[in-house]
Amino acid sequence: MPFVVDPFCELRERAADCTRCDLAATRTQVVFGTGHADAPLVVVGEAPGEQEDRTGEPFVGRSGTLLRRVIAEETDLAEDDCCILNVIKCRPPDNRDPRPAEIEACRPWLDEQLAVVAPVVVLSVGNFASRLLLGTTEGITRLRGRSYPWRSVHLVPTLHPAAVLRGGQTAMEHFRHDVHLAGVLANGAAA
Ligand code: URA
Repeated sequence: MPFVVDPFCELRERAADCTRCDLAATRTQVVFGTGHADAPLVVVGEAPGEQEDRTGEPFVGRSGTLLRRVIAEETDLAEDDCCILNVIKCRPPDNRDPRPAEIEACRPWLDEQLAVVAPVVVLSVGNFASRLLLGTTEGITRLRGRSYPWRSVHLVPTLHPAAVLRGGQTAMEHFRHDVHLAGVLANGAAA
């Protein structure tokens, strides 16, 4: 197995005992994220769920299985080419929505992570990540389907895989379309 340096090593250590918001009192552990320092694609999700809180890895439940499968099928990116992060690093109790104060408290971690990786494309999945990064209150169904210039990257907003699992064929087609676009952009081809 190749020797891989954790790009978030120093950040991860600092975040491990983060108490910037009340989720510190209820989490099992901080779910900081996975990936390589030179990953061209960063996926930004919402927050860890029960399985992520237990294992410490993002997107390991049903949503994560779908996300990884569609990335594998719609792009030629290897798993190592993707960094998987969340807006919120600690599980909200009972998987409730993240609160504005929690998002604000956690945001510096995400900004530092994106600065370390410097991806080509950010795929923001769901309303929370897409609204936060684009600085809008617009819903994901209106935002998705195209890329946005954001800082120095292409930002591709798409549906959250949990919504895709509930949303039937059209939701799946939209999700595939957006992930495909992210893959094309990550390879440096014109959209
Ligand atoms: N698991 C995560 O890590 N993030 C999500 O947004 C959903 C499930």
